[in-house]
Amino acid sequence: MDAFPVEVEIDIGAGMPPHRLVGLAEGAVKESLDRVKSALKNSGFEFPHRKMTINLAPADTRKEGSAFDLPLALGILAAQNVLKDRARLREYLVLGELALDGRIKGIRGALPTALLARSGKFAGVILPRENASEASVVGKGTAVLGVESLREAFEFLEGLRPLESTATDLTAVFGAAGKYDVDFSEVKGQEQAKRALEVAAAGGHNLLMVGPPGSGKSMLAARLPGILPPLEPAEALELGMLQSVAAGLRGGGLLRERPFRDPHHSASTPALVGGGIKGRPGEVSLAHLGVLFLDELPEFNRAALEALRQPLESGRASVARVNAHVTYPARVQLVAAMNPCRCGHLMEPSRACGRAPRCGLDYQGKLSGPLLDRIDLCIDVPPVSSADLALPPPAESSTDVAARVAAARAVQRERLEECDRKGKLLAVEADETAGLLADRVRNWSKPRCNADTDGAVLAAIAEPDAEGRALLTRAAERLGLSARAWHRTLRVARTLADLDGADSVRRLHIAEALSYRRPQPRQAMAA
Ligand SMILES: Nc1ncnc2c1ncn2[C@@H]1O[C@H](COP(=O)(O)OP(=O)(O)OP(=O)(O)O)[C@@H](O)[C@H]1O
Ligand SMILES: [Mg+2]
Repeated sequence: MDAFPVEVEIDIGAGMPPHRLVGLAEGAVKESLDRVKSALKNSGFEFPHRKMTINLAPADTRKEGSAFDLPLALGILAAQNVLKDRARLREYLVLGELALDGRIKGIRGALPTALLARSGKFAGVILPRENASEASVVGKGTAVLGVESLREAFEFLEGLRPLESTATDLTAVFGAAGKYDVDFSEVKGQEQAKRALEVAAAGGHNLLMVGPPGSGKSMLAARLPGILPPLEPAEALELGMLQSVAAGLRGGGLLRERPFRDPHHSASTPALVGGGIKGRPGEVSLAHLGVLFLDELPEFNRAALEALRQPLESGRASVARVNAHVTYPARVQLVAAMNPCRCGHLMEPSRACGRAPRCGLDYQGKLSGPLLDRIDLCIDVPPVSSADLALPPPAESSTDVAARVAAARAVQRERLEECDRKGKLLAVEADETAGLLADRVRNWSKPRCNADTDGAVLAAIAEPDAEGRALLTRAAERLGLSARAWHRTLRVARTLADLDGADSVRRLHIAEALSYRRPQPRQAMAA
């Protein structure tokens, strides 16, 4: 996700063309010279008729994309001494694709490049005007100069015309908050499931819904994005970086909505966690800061699910390529849905198949314990009763729920920032990466909501009162809670208290949190 500077070196020597472009230029870069030639001519400049050698340094790293057009054109002008102020040219990072008539078109990766410019060595970045507002979110101190034509860039560098740095205009960059065409009020009955969804959204908890076909699991999950809080500007920037690497920013701007990714269960391991020939980010990274929804969880390829364990734990996905190691952020909220058995009706004695309860055990056994262990909330979604279906839709809409969720998240953010100031957040050990990247990696791993907290931080923020502690201790003894289940209960209880507007975690919250435990298959059988 990080940009690195590429130096364009041009030597015009004696002799006739052909020109040579060296330095592992691939794809669109190879065709660059053709565009540059026309663009230079049509902007009133000369294209040299002598042999030209162009090197893109560092020569051992692959270069892709069309963003080298503009630096190549300016470099050729400098090599011909048409552009005289070389020192000034050196101060700026330049990128942009050229149209044949000399206009400059938008490119991918403007955001990482602008961040590189901010890292200190450059006065600013010269880039296509349509990418300027997106790049400007990197903040003050970096000149973000949007240009529309080759001539404009040339005249600026020669000091013939001033260019104004694009100021951060967050409203333009972010646009309005998302609109959703599905709403909570359409779901009838299922009060427990709706409550669990609200809790999951409020604390960023992983959620598993188990129920027979047609009970509304997929329907409920589809309504989750509508109640999640919008992204903070810094988060939107972080996500934008990732998207600009993966596919380019949709509509050229940053999004305020949290991503909601729902890969099909036939997805391969690289599709889920990243990798493949180009080392692209996978679904778990594309869902960064949002929701990864895995419908029909046991149908997923086992290896792919196991590969998700590490990103779910650490908030980042490491992708190994032949010649490099890439780390993408992957701080996601996992929401999963499944049937209790292959036929789907394990819980209803009248409809269960002849193989029950064996068939339920087999089906649920496809999921590994460690994966299920990462899931804070497990709920049953029973069939909707006909009485519920006949009722008019409930009055509560997604907007109402979203308001409560946003309030609870604001409390958590405030609290975690306070913890951070006191130095309580565990510092991520120094990564193999340096400087800016290390900063960012640390940011990815920083807890942002209750679900991300663990260890000392969790103990500090979710200490229950005496009654709550007594209940938790008793439950732990009776139910044989593991250490992890203990922490999970505390995390969820903290979120419940936040939804309540309560400062401390009380008995009531612990009790509700305990009800979201995963039912053991054997208990389910007995039921
Ligand atoms: N609680 C509900 N209120 C209103 N309509 C519902 C409800 N539950 C289900 N439906 C209707 O049933 C349809 C199927 O629901 P959905 O796809 O969410 O089921 P599911 O639990 O995901 O089933 P499966 O396990 O087969 O994937 C919905 O599109 C909706 O029309
Ligand atoms: Mg479904």
